[in-house]
Amino acid sequence: MTIQSNAEQKKKGRAHIIVVGNEKGGSGKSTSAMHIVVSLLDRGNSVAIIDLDARQKSLARYIENRQAYADQHNLKLTMPDVHVLESSGGGTAQNSEEQDEVNLSALLADLQSKSDYILIDCPGSNTHLSRLAHVSADTLITPVNDSFVDIDLLAKVNSDTYQVDKLSLYSEMVWEARKMRAMKDRGTIDWIVMRNRTSSLNSKNTQRVHDVLTQLQKRVAFRYVPGFGERVIYRELFPKGLTLVDFNNNGHQKMTMSHVAARQEIRRLMDALKLPGWNKVPVAAAE
Ligand SMILES: Nc1ncnc2c1ncn2[C@@H]1O[C@H](COP(=O)(O)OP(=O)(O)OP(=O)(O)O)[C@@H](O)[C@H]1O
Ligand SMILES: [Mg+2]
Repeated sequence: MTIQSNAEQKKKGRAHIIVVGNEKGGSGKSTSAMHIVVSLLDRGNSVAIIDLDARQKSLARYIENRQAYADQHNLKLTMPDVHVLESSGGGTAQNSEEQDEVNLSALLADLQSKSDYILIDCPGSNTHLSRLAHVSADTLITPVNDSFVDIDLLAKVNSDTYQVDKLSLYSEMVWEARKMRAMKDRGTIDWIVMRNRTSSLNSKNTQRVHDVLTQLQKRVAFRYVPGFGERVIYRELFPKGLTLVDFNNNGHQKMTMSHVAARQEIRRLMDALKLPGWNKVPVAAAE
């Protein structure tokens, strides 16, 4: 991955594409996506989102809630440009896959020149649209829960030694996406794996998951970065469409120790992503 070349892309007016993906359902894709989008907006970036989970639409629903909350309370909250893209379905499988490709390419081409970042939230299943999105990623972010059930989609782990035996479904899919991307435009995908819902107790399981991801990052070429702990605050603001990033330091909401820690986790993640243009001066947070 060449961070510099992505920064150059941005200067030329090509949006940086962030894909949040993991075919494991419920790993924290939409939650991570919400926090990344609001963090980017907070720094004055223009952000377009594409929700590929046309059934749950968690990310798009979150932004609807944000708009409704801003309207009700007469607040000026930062907003992304929201798009939901459905699989074309119907016709033969081949026709519908071709149509998916046309639809996603057209939408990306339209948004490329209008936005600093495009964030695509993928569903928790292996759809054709999701695979296409992975090929277009400049940065791919994969949240994994602190569990070997989640790790199983990345790699098969030896039950006695906890060594990685071989890659599995999702890693192979990303491998294919990387090959296709190289053929398409010689681009590279910076793949980031972040842990989600880590427990504050340093259990044996937590340490083993950490060890396996550390082994895997060399083998599969992803960057393993710290993610989010298990905290109520990551889910309770959904109906308001807010995140901790929206709270100002002297704001109306009392910050607990857990809130402060969560804010640090979000900031640490954003820094670890090394996105082009991330070092802009923060704008004032909305009240
Ligand atoms: N760090 C966290 N702390 C507490 N709860 C969390 C955290 N991350 C996610 N959750 C909760 O876990 C559930 C699954 O999260 P989310 O919807 O973000 O996952 P997803 O990967 O997008 O799921 P899907 O595959 O269905 O799209 C939600 O109820 C969410 O509020
Ligand atoms: Mg989701």
